[in-house]
Amino acid sequence: MTTTDNSGDVRLRGIRKTYGSFTAVHPLDLTVPQGSFFALLGASGCGKTTTLRMIAGLEEPTGGTVHLGDQDVTRLPPFKRPVNTVFQSYALFPHLDIFENVAFGLRRRGIKSVKKQVDEMLELVQLGEHARKKPHQLSGGQQQRVAVARALINHPKVLLLDEPLGALDLKLRRQMQLELKRIQTEVGITFVHVTHDQEEAMTMADTVAVMNAGRVEQLGAPADLYENPRTTFVANFLGTSNLIEAEVDTTSGDAIVLRAGGGKLSLPSRRCGAPTAAGGKVLVGVRPEKISLTHADDAGTIPDGRNRVSGRIADASFIGVSTQYVVDSPAGAALQVYVQNVDRDTRLVPGAEVVLHWNPAHTFGLDAAQDIQAGVEKVEPHEGVVA
Ligand SMILES: Nc1ncnc2c1ncn2[C@@H]1O[C@H](COP(=O)(O)OP(=O)(O)OP(=O)(O)O)[C@@H](O)[C@H]1O
Ligand SMILES: [Mg+2]
Repeated sequence: MTTTDNSGDVRLRGIRKTYGSFTAVHPLDLTVPQGSFFALLGASGCGKTTTLRMIAGLEEPTGGTVHLGDQDVTRLPPFKRPVNTVFQSYALFPHLDIFENVAFGLRRRGIKSVKKQVDEMLELVQLGEHARKKPHQLSGGQQQRVAVARALINHPKVLLLDEPLGALDLKLRRQMQLELKRIQTEVGITFVHVTHDQEEAMTMADTVAVMNAGRVEQLGAPADLYENPRTTFVANFLGTSNLIEAEVDTTSGDAIVLRAGGGKLSLPSRRCGAPTAAGGKVLVGVRPEKISLTHADDAGTIPDGRNRVSGRIADASFIGVSTQYVVDSPAGAALQVYVQNVDRDTRLVPGAEVVLHWNPAHTFGLDAAQDIQAGVEKVEPHEGVVA
């Protein structure tokens, strides 16, 4: 978009929320530029909905301000803010047909001739032929699109979406992610989307803010967050990371050499977010898909200059596009390696001795003072049935 209009910017300054002695959102500064697709990503209870509700005016901040464009809306009631919210429970009117559900906002404002606008909106969400059905006659994904159309017809500057795809099954979620992205591109307004699903956030958003315990830990474009996590929480929560405890050996120019599990690893200095005095501790990170796996018998074929760690395969899961290996190594237990399913080495089975190796450029370094397990998904027994 080539507009200098900033009326759809969302600017939070020192916004915070406490409930008694509990802080749900710590003072937060955040700017969401007009027209962007912004995702707030984080685990349950980290303060996503509270943040969204403060933008909508549904929750009064304990401190700080909310600006939409240049307008300070902190004290405005929800209906006076140029903002609409789509919730997980679509909250459609069951007795009205789809057309009237979408027309609702216009009729409430006393607009008589709604047909053209409603038709356009139904076209946008590709539900034209369902106009005269009732909500219960539509699928979950279709109902969700009605909810989006019903919000967009009010021409909000900002659309807030709180886990809008939460009720859909996995395949439909994936479809709707692309669909929402298309709609956002077409209408060009600011979307702020709340989700605990990292794939969903990365698929849709231009910018993702990773929240943890009421704070934004890191904010950036999906690929940047993924490749350059600055905390163990982000490294573990966004995808999977291998984090290896290592000790600084030498620092020379562009590279830091570290000792781990009896071997040495090299890390580009510019990718290290930790102090690097000799003897100091660093967490060496590498993503599972960056690692190649070679049977120990062929270790001689590995080119020089690669980081290498030896180990033994503890587990191998064939999942079609790739095989996911778990390797125990003196450098670390349960290292994860994803190998694309191109030419499978049939010797790579549990018990096999292997060498893990990767380009040092793909290594990142984190401050070892952090919890190495932060952000690792915990499997809660009662959540066993959730997709
Ligand atoms: N009215 C309230 N009174 C007291 N505590 C509250 C209230 N509303 C929310 N909280 C607490 O504030 C924290 C943040 O809640 P919030 O609803 O923002 O989380 P969330 O990130 O949206 O989580 P989820 O993914 O489960 O929806 C939680 O610990 C929650 O228990
Ligand atoms: Mg929530």
